[in-house]
Amino acid sequence: MSTDIIAKKPEKIFEGAEDFLPLLGTDYVEFYVGNCKQAAYYYQTAWGFQPLAYAGLETGVRHKTSYVLRQGKVTLVLTSPLPHPKSAHITEHIARHGDGVKTIALWVEDAEKAWQETTARGAKSYLEPQVLRDEHGEVVVSGIHTYGDTVHVFVERSNYKGVFMPGYEPWTPDYRPPEVGFKYIDHMVGNVHLGEMNKWAKFYEQVMGFTNIITFDDKDISTEYTALMSKVMANGNGRIKFPINEPAKGKKKSQIEEYLEFYQGAGCQHIALATDNIIDTVTELRRRGVEFLTIPDTYYELLPERVGQIDEDIETLKKLRILVDRDDEGYLLQIFTKPVQDRPTFFYEIIQRKGAKSFGKGNFKALFISIELEQKRRGTL
Ligand code: FE2
Repeated sequence: MSTDIIAKKPEKIFEGAEDFLPLLGTDYVEFYVGNCKQAAYYYQTAWGFQPLAYAGLETGVRHKTSYVLRQGKVTLVLTSPLPHPKSAHITEHIARHGDGVKTIALWVEDAEKAWQETTARGAKSYLEPQVLRDEHGEVVVSGIHTYGDTVHVFVERSNYKGVFMPGYEPWTPDYRPPEVGFKYIDHMVGNVHLGEMNKWAKFYEQVMGFTNIITFDDKDISTEYTALMSKVMANGNGRIKFPINEPAKGKKKSQIEEYLEFYQGAGCQHIALATDNIIDTVTELRRRGVEFLTIPDTYYELLPERVGQIDEDIETLKKLRILVDRDDEGYLLQIFTKPVQDRPTFFYEIIQRKGAKSFGKGNFKALFISIELEQKRRGTL
């Protein structure tokens, strides 16, 4: 039985009803990392993110260092602690989780209202609304907790003209490897503990006004050894999509359990970055040393029959190990990196949509077999 059900179209939800949390898009994603200077170099060199802003000792910030990078509409903040009591929570976050996503910041028109609406509906406050000012104007920020130690920060920046935010100065190095074609964040996935998927789906529904647009159960997403369940939550205008995964019982340890063990808790599993030309993007990423999951040759033998006519040359897709899936509205191309830090936790997906609004269900099996091969090599299956 297929459970790939489009429950409700997100754009229909608020017909006649007010969206109490209108979100304009993802504002930035902040990672807490052990060494943000080297991480910034990695994101510049391998991923083509462009230098944007900096905060640290040289700019009068005594407790932490942050590098801000951008490509298309994707803004990453890489933060490491300096020895200072104000940064103890960053040090603890890294000690516990390793490098990982701390903040999924959402761009709003009214950060105070976003905080009031969400905390009134049960969100735990992370940051009370506050105004940050410098000579370029003001930014209003507020924040709430979500799964694990992850938080959402609401950012209101309509009265700001600076490069990023008060507290940051432009970062203008000469070293600028070219971009690789990223346009925006397609979706961001959270891994939560067994039995917690519905709790967090409900959180996004009740506290943030999201809707469950697709559900995958363990029959959709399973191999001989591992299984998982997932609910895709989307906001009112459909721009923000947060799938929530929980492990399901399999014969061996699932990739979600492996993540939870090594991240020591719930957290962001992957970010899907959208491109208009996945062949060029992946060719360049591979040239720059980004490692992807491998898929067996047999996947490409079955591909024409499974997805029908596509614009891309199958031999090229095979060479790059790009995956394809089709739904009622079109098709999509996607590929997944290996974890991008020492722990087998966070990774990236690269996605190009050609009409399809789904998430590549037809690829789950091939993908999981590949992930299990990697798990076997790590001795964690
Ligand atoms: Fe994904």
